[in-house]
Amino acid sequence: MAILDFHSRWFQLETVSFNGQPFQYYAANDISYVTHPVAAIQRLNVFVPTAYMQANGTVNGYTAATAPIFMPNTVGGYMPGPADSPQKSDWPSNARTIIGALKRGYVVVSAGLRGRTTTTDGQEAGHAPAFIVDLKAAIRYVRYNAAILPGNAARIITNGTSAGGATAALAGAAGNVQDYEPFLKAIGAADVPDDVYAVSAYCPIHNLAHADMAYEWQFNGINDWHRFRITPLAVGQRPKMTPITGNLSTAQQAASTALKSQFIAYLNDLHLTGPAGKPLTLDATGKGAFADEIARLIQQSAQRAYDQGVDVHKYAGIQTMAGSVTAVDLPSYVRSLTRMKAVPAFDTFDLSSPENNLFGDETVPAKHFTAFSQAHDTANGTQAADHLVALTDPVSQLQAAQATVAPYWRIRHGAADRDTSFAIPLILASLLRQQGRSVDFALPWDTPHSGDYDLNDLFDWIDRVVA
Ligand code: DHB
Repeated sequence: MAILDFHSRWFQLETVSFNGQPFQYYAANDISYVTHPVAAIQRLNVFVPTAYMQANGTVNGYTAATAPIFMPNTVGGYMPGPADSPQKSDWPSNARTIIGALKRGYVVVSAGLRGRTTTTDGQEAGHAPAFIVDLKAAIRYVRYNAAILPGNAARIITNGTSAGGATAALAGAAGNVQDYEPFLKAIGAADVPDDVYAVSAYCPIHNLAHADMAYEWQFNGINDWHRFRITPLAVGQRPKMTPITGNLSTAQQAASTALKSQFIAYLNDLHLTGPAGKPLTLDATGKGAFADEIARLIQQSAQRAYDQGVDVHKYAGIQTMAGSVTAVDLPSYVRSLTRMKAVPAFDTFDLSSPENNLFGDETVPAKHFTAFSQAHDTANGTQAADHLVALTDPVSQLQAAQATVAPYWRIRHGAADRDTSFAIPLILASLLRQQGRSVDFALPWDTPHSGDYDLNDLFDWIDRVVA
């Protein structure tokens, strides 16, 4: 498989202007990470701190042999995520993240991943599970070339936001799982392991099979929604956002109540426990220790902000006394956050959501992925196979217990994020802890659906866990 061999001669010195200063690094750009690519996007870039190209060079205590390998992705909305670079200024790019990682002494590998709108010669080529197949193939490329590439291939950290956070998390939850093998073989991925060491996931939009239920558990009774319509502009331009609002119909309100009760059953079946080992359950009205745990995480988040002089009463339900946040009334807090999505939030009855499109195939643009929405279908829709849905979901992969799971996880979900329920990241964090993984989970105060907003803290965490 010499075709997948990396060659050090590909490295070239590049310079980028960062905070008004020139910053230099070595780059090897536009490398195919599979032998049988099916889309032009399946290429990656490698970036290396200059010190590692000199004998005995070190950065932040790391060497060319010990440096962690940071693998951020640019996936958003389950769209294609092109390979990124410090040189990139067009959308989508996290050039600032890559430059920050290089300055900390990490090797950075940014792979382009197919997404739901990827086409090749007019043919659909990016529906599920393409995004995770490509990330796994890129991880395999790094591991296959471990002896030649600078960095420690036993210290790979994936990173992403939203659908990209789900992608990063899935790599951590589905390492070496056989079910992906046919897809990886088909594109000619290296035949080596693809498990990773650590995951940095911001607001991962995952567990799609249960995300509608979770959303209604959180927002049931709030019947007006407020969101942005996203209009794609030219390639490389950030899509346009126009505010829109609406009210739930009577039928949608009924669907909300049905979904809420499905969530209570689902959640109790998971048998989750909290950090102190307490069972996280819900009663028939949707209250209980699981809800209390979310309130506790929001209280912790508010306290940190309060300590820094932030007015935490921007949101309702935050009770304070004598310098302390004493309680959070979750229903009031959630009401003041407002509902973003109508019912159902993800598997829409008319197949109009990004997630419906994710589960399309070569001939069908969009499908359902829950029995509930298939039963309420208004668009002659069909339902994607459960095993396909499971291939896209870190929680399903953890439940199947077939994977080599990353030992270290850092999960952030903004306390003002309404794109999915707080229940979704809490379920992931709890399951991981129960399976013995180290999990750093928090809901940063007044933070909307976004990522990479605390890079210093993220990099401090990486420095700790790779040691
Ligand atoms: C993203 C956001 C969503 O609300 C969603 O349903 C899927 C993806 C995103 O930002 O990637």
